[in-house]
Amino acid sequence: MGRLKVVIMGAGGRGCGYGRFCAEHPDLYEVVAVAEPIDARRNYIKELHNLPDEMCFLDWKDLAAQGKIADICFICMQDAMHYEPALKCIELGYHLLLEKPMAPTPRECREITEAAEAKGVKVLVCHVLRYTDFYQKIKDLIVEGKVGEVMSVEHREGVGNEHQSHSFVRGMWRNTEESAPMILAKSCHDMDLLQWLMDKKCVKTQSFGRLSHFCKANAPAGAPARCLDGCPHEDTCFYSVKKLYLGENATFWFRRAATENPNPTDELVIEALKNGKYGRCAYQCDNDVVDHQTVNMEFEDGSTCVFSMNAFNKGGRVTHIMGTKGELHCDVGTDTIEYFDFATRETTVLSKSDIARSVDMGDGHGGGDSGIMFALYEYINDTYKGNAICELRTSYENHLMCFAAEASRLIGKVVDIEGFEE
Ligand SMILES: NC(=O)c1ccc[n+]([C@@H]2O[C@H](COP(=O)([O-])OP(=O)(O)OC[C@H]3O[C@@H](n4cnc5c(N)ncnc54)[C@H](O)[C@@H]3O)[C@@H](O)[C@H]2O)c1
Repeated sequence: MGRLKVVIMGAGGRGCGYGRFCAEHPDLYEVVAVAEPIDARRNYIKELHNLPDEMCFLDWKDLAAQGKIADICFICMQDAMHYEPALKCIELGYHLLLEKPMAPTPRECREITEAAEAKGVKVLVCHVLRYTDFYQKIKDLIVEGKVGEVMSVEHREGVGNEHQSHSFVRGMWRNTEESAPMILAKSCHDMDLLQWLMDKKCVKTQSFGRLSHFCKANAPAGAPARCLDGCPHEDTCFYSVKKLYLGENATFWFRRAATENPNPTDELVIEALKNGKYGRCAYQCDNDVVDHQTVNMEFEDGSTCVFSMNAFNKGGRVTHIMGTKGELHCDVGTDTIEYFDFATRETTVLSKSDIARSVDMGDGHGGGDSGIMFALYEYINDTYKGNAICELRTSYENHLMCFAAEASRLIGKVVDIEGFEE
């Protein structure tokens, strides 16, 4: 199998990450063009892949105007910017690696699905967690029949308080109108995992949640609108930008996002914090997405799931799967899967070394970012043998679970998935 030619639309956090993978795996992929309006990001991909000037565009439309110049297009722009390029690239005959969420409305997600099916191109939505060793192992255990028939699942997504403040209070996904409801932006991963692990369709959903903490009423007394403007709480506030973006414990990807630069220096970070959205007091932003939400789900055979997503933790997912023959307690944070067998009454604990496969998957999303890239290569070449690939129609259904949950939260009623779009 030869290497696949790739064009990248949107070279932010995700586009650059996939671009780096391609550079590290030249036997699999060759990036031949990029579209990205921000110079530092576009130049990063240009240099990484030695692209000529004429293959570097400021807008995805200019790249699309070249016609089909590669096998796959990676669509890595913001949530509300997937629909138009996805339809255009499908029309051109590209296969797609499409960032999640597919689009912020059910209609747009359906139209992308129908267009790809009609054209016969492959679209892999970036449900990256499926491709991690951790969730693959859980799936394998279920398929092997270890827990018998799955009856009930409790699944928790700990967003993490710092991550919440960066992405969902100050950052890109803070505002529903600008991006998407948080249950879609953050938890379409989880809805996808649940439907995949249970291997059943969700039929009903009910949800509660709201934005309670990250709002003006909770701003500490005397806090200025920006952390760097002499905030008296800088030493004690969990969300002081000095702590999160500067100094030795700063989070590198926060710094990259704040500066819109793959190589953020302190100078660039300070400039961004003084003037940009990431420098604002976490209690005085224009955020409206929830900081905690729960969803109850009923599946087609009557099995059930309770899901909780919230900001008030260090971060990490925990999944408890209960079946007719045993139960699995799976904690991403400790990298352990505990299996209790009803027949023997014994508990087996699988730790990281029992779960890891032979290929080093790296760190991004627990290895999922690399995992999806290896799988994509085989999927496009029709050689994929695993069980993680998510067909586009399934992605659409998983997205519907999020839309329905959000509708339930807003109207305060149980919502049926079937016929939801109408
Ligand atoms: N799969 C995952 O686990 C995962 C994780 C994080 C984000 N995401 C999703 O990936 C997508 C991108 O997220 P990100 O963090 O990389 O965002 P980002 O804002 O860092 O990157 C988006 C890029 O698109 C560029 N862009 C804007 N207009 C453009 C145009 N007209 N033509 C070409 N490029 C244009 C922006 O300049 C920016 O660099 C989002 O939909 C997000 O929700 C997925």
